[in-house]
Amino acid sequence: MSRLDSFIRRVTAQREILNFMIEQVQSVPGTVLELGLGNGRTFDHIREALPDREIFVFDRAIRANPRCVPDGEHMILGEIRDTLEFCGPRIREKAAFIHCDLGSGDPTTDLATQSWISPLIALHSAPGALIASGLALDLPGYEVLPLPGGVQEGRYFLYRAPAQTTRVAAE
Ligand SMILES: C[S@@+](CC[C@H](N)C(=O)[O-])C[C@H]1O[C@@H](n2cnc3c(N)ncnc32)[C@H](O)[C@@H]1O
Repeated sequence: MSRLDSFIRRVTAQREILNFMIEQVQSVPGTVLELGLGNGRTFDHIREALPDREIFVFDRAIRANPRCVPDGEHMILGEIRDTLEFCGPRIREKAAFIHCDLGSGDPTTDLATQSWISPLIALHSAPGALIASGLALDLPGYEVLPLPGGVQEGRYFLYRAPAQTTRVAAE
């Protein structure tokens, strides 16, 4: 397969997955987190499909098309390992949809990312939140959702948070 064919297949699958998750998220209240602005393609797609949702976008740098950069309040710059843990006061609400597109293409970096990102995603998920990730995540208690038809197994990983978050009983 040519690199052009492979690119087209990858972005077509990404669009299928985003559209599938966007449909599911209509009934879940909460914000949207886009982890990895990149050139802003998927951010632009999500904001067009969910115009009434607040979307917070994370990246270590802005390299996006200038028309696809969120305003300063919604662009959270820095290492996601640091910013995602401490952005609670800024975003205030739990997320209904988290799209995690942090794959680097380097297997070691990706394994490391998988290990630290999973608990941070769990920290920010609203009950019933939808998670779409290019890397497999370790989210105990989350439902693993099937990929929409036509998307190759292992290309993306989809999860749904439990309807109720576990509360630690007060003494
Ligand atoms: C694959 S690109 C995202 C592509 C994007 N979804 C799009 O449609 O254009 C991954 C992005 O995540 C960012 N990134 C990866 N790991 C990161 C980390 N640990 N902290 C902050 N940004 C990170 C990179 O800078 C890059 O812009």
